[in-house]
Amino acid sequence: MNDTPSRYHPDAMIAEDIHAYLDQHQRKSLLRFITCGSVDDGKSTLIGRLLYDSKMIFEDQLASLEIDSRKVGTQGQEIDFALLVDGLAAEREQGITIDVAYRFFSTEKRKFIVADTPGHEQYTRNMVTGASTADLAVILIDARKGVLTQTRRHSYLAHLIGIRNIVLAVNKMDLIDFDEARYHAIVDDYRLFATSIGIGDFVAMPISGFKGDNVTTLSPNMPWYSGPTLIQHLETVELDANIDQEKPFRFPVQWVNRPNLDFRGFSGLVSTGRVSAGDPVRILPSGRTSAVSRIVAFEGDLDEAVAGQSVTLTLADEVDCSRGDVIAIANDPPEVADQFEATIVWMADEEMLPGRPYWLKLGTQTVTVQIQAPKYQVNVNTLEHLATRTLDLNAIGVANLSTDRPIVFEPYARSRDLGGFILIDKVSNATVGAGMLHFSLRRSQNVHWQALEVSREKHAELKNQRPAILWFTGLSGAGKSTIANLVEKRLVLMNRHTFLLDGDNVRHGLNRDLGFTEADRVENIRRVGEVAKLMSDAGLIVITAFISPFRAERQMVRETMQPGEFFEVHIDTSLEEAERRDVKGLYKKARAGELANFTGIDSPYEVPENPEIRIDTTRMSPEEAAQTIVERLLGWS
Ligand code: ADX
Repeated sequence: MNDTPSRYHPDAMIAEDIHAYLDQHQRKSLLRFITCGSVDDGKSTLIGRLLYDSKMIFEDQLASLEIDSRKVGTQGQEIDFALLVDGLAAEREQGITIDVAYRFFSTEKRKFIVADTPGHEQYTRNMVTGASTADLAVILIDARKGVLTQTRRHSYLAHLIGIRNIVLAVNKMDLIDFDEARYHAIVDDYRLFATSIGIGDFVAMPISGFKGDNVTTLSPNMPWYSGPTLIQHLETVELDANIDQEKPFRFPVQWVNRPNLDFRGFSGLVSTGRVSAGDPVRILPSGRTSAVSRIVAFEGDLDEAVAGQSVTLTLADEVDCSRGDVIAIANDPPEVADQFEATIVWMADEEMLPGRPYWLKLGTQTVTVQIQAPKYQVNVNTLEHLATRTLDLNAIGVANLSTDRPIVFEPYARSRDLGGFILIDKVSNATVGAGMLHFSLRRSQNVHWQALEVSREKHAELKNQRPAILWFTGLSGAGKSTIANLVEKRLVLMNRHTFLLDGDNVRHGLNRDLGFTEADRVENIRRVGEVAKLMSDAGLIVITAFISPFRAERQMVRETMQPGEFFEVHIDTSLEEAERRDVKGLYKKARAGELANFTGIDSPYEVPENPEIRIDTTRMSPEEAAQTIVERLLGWS
């Protein structure tokens, strides 16, 4: 019964007319799908079955599976099924922690890319990566076991990522004697769960990946099943790309093309909808309007472009438009906002730090974002909401976030391109998370900047000085407070208007609620940075003395100031020296294990890379250090 139907044999056509064959292959549509389940559910066997029966195994695939292509013959006809499945399983195991394995195969009707992701909970991020571009998910169930925790987790994730087509493949039917009643009980059980999480519709089928039943050929063992085979379903299911074409026109600009003064084109990929020459368009976030004059493609000018096509648009007017802007149909544009509610999937070993600035990349837009403490985290196994202050690796939570400037977006449910984003660490440049925007917060429309009539310049002018922040950083006991005090005294003697914010003092008031976890330190510095910035707006020279152990937060405060107004002052004392002095006796406590998260002992300190001023306290007295700093501030040295 494993006989492959003749329609999967492209050989005859290849022999007759190779060009016609290649041409047909080129024009086939592409379905991306993901298989969810573990090796135990028969995932490798099912993928092996699809590759094997479609007879479209490529040399490089065999090479990557370490299968000798000479043993295989043309197009894989001679390949041993068991060998292939072993190869897939072995590769999956080796590559398990790295990423997602993509397999390519093809039938006469369609081309397929299947993302094979590991099934365990610790690989949630891999599954999210593999699923992010998929049209369809095959949820595999072992018929002997029925709906399990992991079935629920995979279904929840697939639905979260916005996969519209869910196939419930009840596998290993051969091992339960093709029992119809058992099959229906599993499907009913699953339906109850699916409905509870908002999966309205799914297609269920009883299969055997090992024997081939209902995978590529209808099974003679289950005459009671009247639906399609898995491959028939994969060949005919409607693609997201077709649905995207019916949505309003959206075109995120990737780059501006200006080969000469007469031509200015905006290049990118049509995300949704369609556009014709002459269509009125709106450019966001500015909101300016124009009309499309030409649609230029590689082959020449087009009358129309649709979702999924890469083109260059020219506009009728000389309007401002640059990378990151979105060109949209004029009468139905997407929203623009800077505060949102979103679901976040955390993908880094280091926990998410609320308040820390990260890069948020959404399509062609990249902005700085700050995430608030999560409203809740989702237990992906029970789907319960849990209270949390942060998100760890593979955690999924809902939080509000704010960007430093407005972005053009759509709710993820409406557009994956304009609602899905990734989060990037600003220091390491690593991707640390992914997310989906739900909606903009109303306050982002209703809170405006009030134009102040007494300006920052006026405040400074009255005080006869240029505002500045002297940002001291260094280990506990390095001498920050001592030197900062001396600096302030000297400046006051010179009639400068100053204010000193000191860690130990601020932690008695404004930041009384914060401790010394990484998240709390980030929030400590965020608040102090905001206060220091406001004080500098009042015209003051602000001196701050905080350990401020992280580069990202020091950089964040730097960016709020004008060039030349922010002085990072590294009070550089080695850990050995600070510990030897141990003015407050805290190092002793930390070493004795009585004080957790102590900087330098069991909490990191990130040394400034390019501080404006570096003070080596083993070579300079506090008075000399203060003198050096004042001279640098006033531009005397
Ligand atoms: S920061 O890391 O968030 O910038 P901050 O400068 O406000 O720290 O506070 C540091 C001061 O708090 C230290 O000088 C020390 O007196 C006290 N302290 C108490 N516990 C700790 C700890 N676990 N780590 C560092 N400092 C601590």
